[in-house]
Amino acid sequence: MTKKRKAEKRVVFANWKMNPTSLSQAKRLFLDVRTGLGKKFSETEVIIASPMPYLNELQSLAPSGRIKLAAQDVYHEKSGAFTGEVSLPMLKSVGVGYVLVGHSEKRAAGETDLDVYKNVQAVVAGKTVAVICVGEKSRDRDGNYFGVVEAQIKSALKDLKPTELKYIMIAYEPIWAISSVDKSRVATPEDIQEMKLFIQKVLSDCFSRSAANRVPILYGGSVNKKNAEELISKGDVDGFLVGGASLRATEFLGIINIVENYVKTA
Ligand code: PGA
Repeated sequence: MTKKRKAEKRVVFANWKMNPTSLSQAKRLFLDVRTGLGKKFSETEVIIASPMPYLNELQSLAPSGRIKLAAQDVYHEKSGAFTGEVSLPMLKSVGVGYVLVGHSEKRAAGETDLDVYKNVQAVVAGKTVAVICVGEKSRDRDGNYFGVVEAQIKSALKDLKPTELKYIMIAYEPIWAISSVDKSRVATPEDIQEMKLFIQKVLSDCFSRSAANRVPILYGGSVNKKNAEELISKGDVDGFLVGGASLRATEFLGIINIVENYVKTA
């Protein structure tokens, strides 16, 4: 039996990816989540990373800040001749407080460790939270995947000061467990707990143990209402990054409910 951590706020972070396909659907989904949250769930930080074109409208639907807004990507320059890119100041101007950096789907499309590093630097310099995604493509018996995750973390956090870690969250997302990659493979709570401890060790080697312990470590990859309880209790993570299941309000609220109950009984 895993020992429970002391009660503290947990994070449930929705990554809508390239969904839904219209602003009206995005507003509907957002409002359904907002209504379901009501005044409940005080122990859980709820964050939604929506596609860029919806952010401004969603900001006006979240006046109380109960649901925080995130972007799925950023470009490290502030402005200029960078066609198609969106900068941190632009994101902040529409209420974004969190940015996903280095998601595996961006890395697969060509984003390099250097891009991830530059984006982390830009987000942190803008006093915004970078949610850095790390994770291996596959696992081998020799445990080489630990080295993959270590290298991703060290490169992303290079040059940060310990005091800047308050702008960092790490999302461990083993690529093989992401629902769009292979529906039959899910990480076990033991896989997740082991990697969480490893990530904390990497962070404390780079900074200090106390600084490392303050960095929230989330898990992402096929999280749903059925597995959330086991993953949060035995996986011992600080929250979830939820893709597919965040596109259905009842499913997403169900996950938040599970996390909330876990914190309250911890
Ligand atoms: P999933 O996606 O929950 O659909 O597996 C997670 C992610 O890719 O962030």
